[in-house]
Amino acid sequence: MNRTVYLNGSWLPEADAKISIFDRGFLFADAIYEVTAVVGGKLVDYAGHAARLQRSLKELAITCPLSPEALLDVHREIVARNEVTEGLIYLQVSRGAADRDFAYPAHATPTLVLLTQTKAVLDNPRAKTGISVATIPDLRWGRRDIKTVQLLFPSMAKMEAMRQGADDAWLVEDGFITEGSSATAHIVTKDGVLVTRGLSNAILHGITRASIIDIARSAGIAVEERAFTPDEALAAAEAFITSATSFVMPVVRIDGKTIGTGVPGPISKQLRELYVESRLAAAI
Ligand code: PDD
Repeated sequence: MNRTVYLNGSWLPEADAKISIFDRGFLFADAIYEVTAVVGGKLVDYAGHAARLQRSLKELAITCPLSPEALLDVHREIVARNEVTEGLIYLQVSRGAADRDFAYPAHATPTLVLLTQTKAVLDNPRAKTGISVATIPDLRWGRRDIKTVQLLFPSMAKMEAMRQGADDAWLVEDGFITEGSSATAHIVTKDGVLVTRGLSNAILHGITRASIIDIARSAGIAVEERAFTPDEALAAAEAFITSATSFVMPVVRIDGKTIGTGVPGPISKQLRELYVESRLAAAI
Protein backbone atom coordinates (compact mmCIF):
# COMPACT_ATOMS: atom_id res chain seq x y z
CA MET A 1 0.00 0.00 0.00
CA ASN A 2 1.20 3.46 -0.70
CA ARG A 3 -1.59 5.61 0.59
CA THR A 4 -1.44 9.29 1.30
CA VAL A 5 -2.55 9.94 4.86
CA TYR A 6 -3.37 13.10 6.77
CA LEU A 7 -1.45 13.91 9.94
CA ASN A 8 -1.85 17.22 11.77
CA GLY A 9 -2.21 19.39 8.70
CA SER A 10 0.24 17.48 6.44
CA TRP A 11 -0.36 15.05 3.59
CA LEU A 12 2.23 12.27 3.79
CA PRO A 13 3.05 8.88 2.27
CA GLU A 14 1.80 6.40 4.89
CA ALA A 15 5.34 5.18 5.73
CA ASP A 16 6.38 8.74 6.66
CA ALA A 17 3.48 9.47 9.03
CA LYS A 18 4.88 9.23 12.57
CA ILE A 19 3.59 10.25 15.98
CA SER A 20 5.27 10.58 19.38
CA ILE A 21 5.66 7.65 21.79
CA PHE A 22 4.29 10.12 24.38
CA ASP A 23 1.03 10.47 22.49
CA ARG A 24 -1.75 9.78 25.01
CA GLY A 25 -3.60 7.81 22.36
CA PHE A 26 -0.70 5.32 22.56
CA LEU A 27 -0.15 5.46 26.35
CA PHE A 28 -3.75 5.74 27.66
CA ALA A 29 -6.06 5.05 24.68
CA ASP A 30 -6.91 8.72 25.29
CA ALA A 31 -8.32 9.13 21.80
CA ILE A 32 -11.56 8.87 19.87
CA TYR A 33 -12.31 7.83 16.31
CA GLU A 34 -14.89 7.72 13.54
CA VAL A 35 -15.35 5.45 10.55
CA THR A 36 -17.25 6.79 7.56
CA ALA A 37 -18.11 4.71 4.49
CA VAL A 38 -17.21 5.92 1.01
CA VAL A 39 -19.26 4.80 -1.98
CA GLY A 40 -18.85 6.21 -5.47
CA GLY A 41 -16.20 8.51 -3.98
CA LYS A 42 -18.81 10.10 -1.68
CA LEU A 43 -19.25 10.13 2.10
CA VAL A 44 -22.16 8.09 3.46
CA ASP A 45 -24.16 9.41 6.48
CA TYR A 46 -21.40 12.00 7.03
CA ALA A 47 -23.51 14.46 9.06
CA GLY A 48 -24.16 11.79 11.72
CA HIS A 49 -20.49 10.81 11.98
CA ALA A 50 -19.39 14.46 12.17
CA ALA A 51 -21.92 15.12 14.96
CA ARG A 52 -20.89 12.04 16.96
CA LEU A 53 -17.22 13.01 16.59
CA GLN A 54 -17.98 16.36 18.27
CA ARG A 55 -19.91 14.59 21.03
CA SER A 56 -17.05 12.15 21.76
CA LEU A 57 -14.54 15.03 21.84
CA LYS A 58 -16.76 17.03 24.20
CA GLU A 59 -17.17 14.08 26.60
CA LEU A 60 -13.36 13.86 26.88
CA ALA A 61 -12.73 17.62 26.80
CA ILE A 62 -10.51 17.31 23.72
CA THR A 63 -10.56 20.33 21.42
CA CYS A 64 -11.24 19.56 17.78
CA PRO A 65 -8.16 20.65 15.81
CA LEU A 66 -10.22 21.68 12.75
CA SER A 67 -13.46 23.51 12.09
CA PRO A 68 -16.39 21.41 10.80
CA GLU A 69 -15.89 22.88 7.29
CA ALA A 70 -12.14 22.10 7.28
CA LEU A 71 -12.84 18.58 8.55
CA LEU A 72 -15.24 17.93 5.67
CA ASP A 73 -12.64 19.30 3.22
CA VAL A 74 -10.00 16.91 4.61
CA HIS A 75 -12.43 13.98 4.23
CA ARG A 76 -13.05 14.93 0.62
CA GLU A 77 -9.40 15.52 -0.13
CA ILE A 78 -8.25 12.17 1.29
CA VAL A 79 -10.79 10.37 -0.91
CA ALA A 80 -9.58 12.28 -3.96
CA ARG A 81 -5.86 11.87 -3.21
CA ASN A 82 -6.24 8.11 -2.77
CA GLU A 83 -8.81 7.71 -5.56
CA VAL A 84 -11.12 5.77 -3.24
CA THR A 85 -14.34 4.80 -4.94
CA GLU A 86 -15.52 2.28 -2.32
CA GLY A 87 -14.21 1.81 1.20
CA LEU A 88 -13.88 3.83 4.35
CA ILE A 89 -12.23 6.76 6.03
CA TYR A 90 -10.78 6.21 9.50
CA LEU A 91 -10.34 9.36 11.56
CA GLN A 92 -8.68 9.50 14.99
CA VAL A 93 -8.14 12.39 17.38
CA SER A 94 -5.99 11.85 20.46
CA ARG A 95 -5.40 14.35 23.24
CA GLY A 96 -1.80 14.66 22.01
CA ALA A 97 1.67 14.11 23.47
CA ALA A 98 2.57 14.88 27.10
CA ASP A 99 4.66 13.40 29.91
CA ARG A 100 2.93 10.29 31.24
CA ASP A 101 0.40 11.35 33.89
CA PHE A 102 -3.13 10.14 34.63
CA ALA A 103 -4.34 13.74 34.83
CA TYR A 104 -5.04 15.36 31.46
CA PRO A 105 -2.22 17.76 30.51
CA ALA A 106 -3.19 21.43 30.70
CA HIS A 107 -1.90 22.22 27.21
CA ALA A 108 -1.61 19.37 24.76
CA THR A 109 -2.04 19.73 21.03
CA PRO A 110 -4.45 17.07 19.74
CA THR A 111 -3.16 14.61 17.15
CA LEU A 112 -5.47 14.27 14.14
CA VAL A 113 -5.03 11.37 11.73
CA LEU A 114 -7.11 10.34 8.73
CA LEU A 115 -6.48 7.34 6.53
CA THR A 116 -8.45 5.43 3.90
CA GLN A 117 -9.08 1.75 3.30
CA THR A 118 -10.47 0.35 0.07
CA LYS A 119 -13.17 -2.23 0.78
CA ALA A 120 -16.23 -3.72 -0.95
CA VAL A 121 -18.86 -2.21 1.34
CA LEU A 122 -21.66 -2.26 -1.22
CA ASP A 123 -21.11 -5.60 -2.92
CA ASN A 124 -20.20 -7.44 0.24
CA PRO A 125 -20.88 -11.14 -0.52
CA ARG A 126 -21.75 -11.75 3.15
CA ALA A 127 -24.89 -9.63 2.74
CA LYS A 128 -26.33 -12.46 0.62
CA THR A 129 -25.43 -15.32 2.97
CA GLY A 130 -25.55 -13.56 6.34
CA ILE A 131 -23.10 -14.02 9.20
CA SER A 132 -23.01 -16.04 12.40
CA VAL A 133 -22.42 -14.65 15.88
CA ALA A 134 -21.48 -16.10 19.26
CA THR A 135 -22.65 -14.54 22.53
CA ILE A 136 -19.77 -13.44 24.77
CA PRO A 137 -19.96 -11.68 28.18
CA ASP A 138 -19.58 -7.91 27.73
CA LEU A 139 -16.57 -6.93 29.82
CA ARG A 140 -15.98 -3.46 28.33
CA TRP A 141 -15.87 -0.25 30.34
CA GLY A 142 -19.03 1.73 31.20
CA ARG A 143 -18.80 4.62 28.69
CA ARG A 144 -19.42 2.76 25.44
CA ASP A 145 -21.32 5.81 24.16
CA ILE A 146 -17.94 7.51 23.63
CA LYS A 147 -16.24 6.15 20.50
CA THR A 148 -12.81 5.68 22.06
CA VAL A 149 -9.95 3.64 20.62
CA GLN A 150 -10.06 1.31 23.67
CA LEU A 151 -10.90 -1.65 21.44
CA LEU A 152 -8.97 -4.45 23.11
CA PHE A 153 -11.97 -6.18 24.68
CA PRO A 154 -14.03 -6.05 21.44
CA SER A 155 -10.97 -7.48 19.71
CA MET A 156 -10.67 -10.28 22.32
CA ALA A 157 -14.41 -11.00 22.02
CA LYS A 158 -14.19 -11.25 18.24
CA MET A 159 -11.23 -13.64 18.53
CA GLU A 160 -13.17 -15.80 21.00
CA ALA A 161 -16.24 -15.80 18.70
CA MET A 162 -14.02 -16.84 15.78
CA ARG A 163 -12.41 -19.55 17.91
CA GLN A 164 -15.94 -20.88 18.45
CA GLY A 165 -16.47 -20.94 14.67
CA ALA A 166 -18.61 -17.79 14.44
CA ASP A 167 -17.91 -14.67 12.39
CA ASP A 168 -18.37 -12.18 15.20
CA ALA A 169 -19.50 -11.63 18.79
CA TRP A 170 -22.73 -10.34 20.28
CA LEU A 171 -21.95 -9.04 23.75
CA VAL A 172 -24.18 -9.86 26.73
CA GLU A 173 -24.52 -7.95 29.99
CA ASP A 174 -27.00 -8.66 32.82
CA GLY A 175 -28.79 -11.15 30.57
CA PHE A 176 -29.33 -8.73 27.66
CA ILE A 177 -27.50 -8.21 24.38
CA THR A 178 -25.69 -4.89 24.39
CA GLU A 179 -24.28 -4.81 20.84
CA GLY A 180 -21.82 -6.50 18.50
CA SER A 181 -18.03 -6.20 18.81
CA SER A 182 -18.12 -3.34 16.29
CA ALA A 183 -21.75 -3.01 15.22
CA THR A 184 -25.28 -2.46 16.59
CA ALA A 185 -27.39 -5.61 17.17
CA HIS A 186 -31.03 -5.80 16.02
CA ILE A 187 -33.76 -8.45 15.77
CA VAL A 188 -37.09 -8.66 13.97
CA THR A 189 -39.79 -10.46 15.95
CA LYS A 190 -42.17 -13.01 14.43
CA ASP A 191 -44.74 -10.14 14.41
CA GLY A 192 -42.44 -8.08 12.19
CA VAL A 193 -41.35 -5.59 14.86
CA LEU A 194 -37.79 -4.27 14.68
CA VAL A 195 -36.28 -4.40 18.17
CA THR A 196 -33.09 -2.51 18.92
CA ARG A 197 -31.62 -1.53 22.26
CA GLY A 198 -32.38 2.01 23.47
CA LEU A 199 -29.60 4.60 23.74
CA SER A 200 -27.59 4.73 26.98
CA ASN A 201 -23.95 4.54 28.07
CA ALA A 202 -24.14 0.76 27.49
CA ILE A 203 -23.82 1.04 23.71
CA LEU A 204 -22.32 3.20 21.01
CA HIS A 205 -24.99 5.45 19.53
CA GLY A 206 -24.77 3.98 16.05
CA ILE A 207 -25.20 6.36 13.13
CA THR A 208 -26.43 3.53 10.92
CA ARG A 209 -28.80 2.48 13.75
CA ALA A 210 -30.37 5.97 13.74
CA SER A 211 -30.78 5.87 9.95
CA ILE A 212 -32.30 2.38 10.04
CA ILE A 213 -34.85 3.37 12.69
CA ASP A 214 -35.95 6.31 10.50
CA ILE A 215 -36.02 4.18 7.37
CA ALA A 216 -37.97 1.38 9.07
CA ARG A 217 -40.59 3.77 10.48
CA SER A 218 -41.01 5.46 7.08
CA ALA A 219 -41.49 2.02 5.51
CA GLY A 220 -44.26 1.22 8.02
CA ILE A 221 -42.16 -1.20 10.08
CA ALA A 222 -42.85 -0.87 13.82
CA VAL A 223 -39.74 -0.17 15.92
CA GLU A 224 -39.27 -0.87 19.64
CA GLU A 225 -36.20 0.59 21.31
CA ARG A 226 -35.58 -1.81 24.17
CA ALA A 227 -33.06 -4.40 25.27
CA PHE A 228 -33.55 -8.03 24.21
CA THR A 229 -32.14 -11.30 25.54
CA PRO A 230 -30.18 -13.98 23.67
CA ASP A 231 -33.27 -16.25 23.99
CA GLU A 232 -35.46 -13.62 22.37
CA ALA A 233 -32.91 -13.30 19.57
CA LEU A 234 -32.92 -17.08 19.08
CA ALA A 235 -36.72 -17.03 18.81
CA ALA A 236 -36.73 -14.04 16.41
CA ALA A 237 -37.74 -14.22 12.75
CA GLU A 238 -34.63 -12.29 11.71
CA ALA A 239 -31.52 -10.72 13.16
CA PHE A 240 -29.00 -8.29 11.73
CA ILE A 241 -26.23 -5.87 12.58
CA THR A 242 -25.68 -2.32 11.39
CA SER A 243 -22.49 -0.28 11.11
CA ALA A 244 -20.83 2.24 8.83
CA THR A 245 -18.91 -0.51 7.04
CA SER A 246 -21.49 -3.34 7.00
CA PHE A 247 -24.62 -1.16 6.44
CA VAL A 248 -27.26 -3.83 7.23
CA MET A 249 -25.75 -7.30 7.57
CA PRO A 250 -28.08 -10.25 8.23
CA VAL A 251 -27.25 -12.59 11.13
CA VAL A 252 -28.42 -16.14 10.40
CA ARG A 253 -26.95 -18.09 13.34
CA ILE A 254 -26.48 -17.30 17.02
CA ASP A 255 -24.37 -19.71 19.10
CA GLY A 256 -24.67 -22.30 16.32
CA LYS A 257 -28.50 -22.14 16.27
CA THR A 258 -30.35 -21.04 13.16
CA ILE A 259 -32.41 -17.81 13.22
CA GLY A 260 -35.66 -17.98 11.26
CA THR A 261 -35.09 -19.93 8.06
CA GLY A 262 -31.29 -19.68 8.25
CA VAL A 263 -31.03 -17.28 5.33
CA PRO A 264 -31.24 -13.46 5.29
CA GLY A 265 -34.86 -12.49 6.02
CA PRO A 266 -37.10 -10.19 3.96
CA ILE A 267 -37.05 -7.25 6.40
CA SER A 268 -33.25 -7.31 6.73
CA LYS A 269 -32.99 -7.37 2.92
CA GLN A 270 -35.54 -4.58 2.53
CA LEU A 271 -33.79 -2.40 5.11
CA ARG A 272 -30.40 -2.96 3.46
CA GLU A 273 -31.83 -1.98 0.07
CA LEU A 274 -33.60 1.07 1.46
CA TYR A 275 -30.49 2.13 3.40
CA VAL A 276 -28.26 1.84 0.34
CA GLU A 277 -30.76 3.59 -1.93
CA SER A 278 -31.51 6.52 0.39
CA ARG A 279 -28.06 7.04 1.90
CA LEU A 280 -26.21 6.82 -1.41
CA ALA A 281 -28.62 9.33 -2.92
CA ALA A 282 -27.84 11.65 0.02
CA ALA A 283 -24.05 10.95 0.10
CA ILE A 284 -21.87 14.05 -0.16
N1 PDD B 1 -17.75 0.41 14.54
N2 PDD B 1 -21.23 -0.41 18.15
C1 PDD B 1 -19.89 -0.47 18.19
C2 PDD B 1 -19.25 -0.99 19.41
C3 PDD B 1 -19.13 -0.05 17.08
O1 PDD B 1 -17.79 -0.10 17.14
C4 PDD B 1 -19.80 0.42 15.92
C5 PDD B 1 -19.06 0.90 14.70
C6 PDD B 1 -21.20 0.46 15.92
C7 PDD B 1 -21.99 0.97 14.76
O2 PDD B 1 -21.91 2.38 14.68
P1 PDD B 1 -22.05 3.11 13.28
O3 PDD B 1 -23.34 2.66 12.68
O4 PDD B 1 -22.06 4.54 13.64
O5 PDD B 1 -20.85 2.71 12.44
C8 PDD B 1 -21.89 0.05 17.07
C9 PDD B 1 -16.93 0.89 13.46
C10 PDD B 1 -17.50 0.64 12.11
C11 PDD B 1 -15.51 0.36 13.64
O6 PDD B 1 -15.09 0.32 14.79
O7 PDD B 1 -14.83 0.03 12.67
